[in-house]
Amino acid sequence: MRRVPPGRPGPRVTLVGGECRDRHEHTTYRGAAVSHAPGTSASPAPPPDIQEAEDLADVVVTGGAGFVGRHLVAALARAGTKVTVVDHAPLGQDVAALPGVRYVRADLRDYGDTLLALEGADTVFHLAGNASGNLSVENPRLDFHLNALATSNVGNAALELGVPRLVFLSSAIVYGTPAHTPIGESHPTGPFLPYGASKLAGEFALLSLHRTAGLPVVIGRSFVIYGPGEDPRRAGGEVSQFLRWQLNERPIPVVGDIDRKTRDFVHVHDMCRALVALAVRGAEGEIYNIGSGTEVSMRALAAAVADVTGRPARLEADDRSLADSFALVADISKLSALGFAPRVTLEAGLTALAAELGPYPELPSVRAAFRREPYARRRRLRPAVRDDRREARIEDRREVRPGAQYEAERAARRDAHGTDGAPACSR
Ligand SMILES: NC(=O)c1ccc[n+]([C@@H]2O[C@H](COP(=O)([O-])OP(=O)(O)OC[C@H]3O[C@@H](n4cnc5c(N)ncnc54)[C@H](O)[C@@H]3O)[C@@H](O)[C@H]2O)c1
Repeated sequence: MRRVPPGRPGPRVTLVGGECRDRHEHTTYRGAAVSHAPGTSASPAPPPDIQEAEDLADVVVTGGAGFVGRHLVAALARAGTKVTVVDHAPLGQDVAALPGVRYVRADLRDYGDTLLALEGADTVFHLAGNASGNLSVENPRLDFHLNALATSNVGNAALELGVPRLVFLSSAIVYGTPAHTPIGESHPTGPFLPYGASKLAGEFALLSLHRTAGLPVVIGRSFVIYGPGEDPRRAGGEVSQFLRWQLNERPIPVVGDIDRKTRDFVHVHDMCRALVALAVRGAEGEIYNIGSGTEVSMRALAAAVADVTGRPARLEADDRSLADSFALVADISKLSALGFAPRVTLEAGLTALAAELGPYPELPSVRAAFRREPYARRRRLRPAVRDDRREARIEDRREVRPGAQYEAERAARRDAHGTDGAPACSR
């Protein structure tokens, strides 16, 4: 495991609260000097060249309209593989127009849709789901349906259709707060976010189908993925968030302790290589960490961002919540044994991403959320009208309940004759 040092002495990183030192007038970065509309990029990075992908045929990528999915689809298309994108969101023209790419709009929460979407597949990469911890805190039921129910549907459909290989992209979030680092696959799981629980439920659903019915599934547990094409309105990854604040010449907000909070950042091109390696050489029923194996503290990331942009970074640390101020780095030896080695260094990935984003990109609008209003408080805040509506809904249900007719007739007899005619012992 490698650790990125926090930076050389000098004014590369300052903490806001003190004076902002050595502030330059203009943002500079290594890379093309072009300007873009907010949130867009000038020239999408070319997809990675993955030779092994040539061995795959009739591939389905669920979630192929999302951040990781689009890169994987582009890499497979580049290798000449026939790919079907399955997603409930529309597919961008840049990917839809690639040779050999087909798009099926389907919601994997529906088993019928899932069966149709997976028909004829040789390899399925299941990437669809909720990738947002925040959303899972705000709407845990939706998160569970998108991650656990949909994953169970994909597993069952793959089994029913006899799909020869299923690769599921899970998350390191299933480990919860690490007991030690680096984290190997045998580290205990203990998710603290609903997102972790739903991903782990998805893993269990697939592994149980492997054990009981031989589902040929391989699971990847990814650490933090970064690269071009992340949606700043949804993506919570620190790399693109830090860069976006810095390229706007704004202080970088960080939740937690900037030295104790460390992460393992893996470039999306390396992620695509790892996923293909799992499809071609991963062992069925096995779980593999996918990361860079390099530990980066928030301070070190800010220093790297300062280097790439050529001006000091100002960190605005909010340490009121330390919920995720722990070290998180992958032991990737199991994946490395399949011949995988990360190729994109953080410095190279940051440099390319800065060039891609251009000056003044759209700012991130995601802030880490670990808790929502306690249940009791939310109930107190509910307007009274909600209770009336609930009564009305219960009444509606009574009307359609089996036996409601019988109940109504009994009540009418009671009113008319003082007795409903039912045997005394039934009261
Ligand atoms: N981005 C990361 O840092 C990261 C880290 C670990 C694991 N992962 C996992 O990788 C996968 C891809 O992540 P991403 O960052 O590309 O997310 P994303 O949100 O950009 O893409 C997910 C895609 O899945 C689609 N989808 C969701 N539910 C669906 C359903 N029921 N039916 C059909 N399509 C559906 C969405 O429309 C979206 O296009 C996710 O499963 C996520 O949990 C991501």
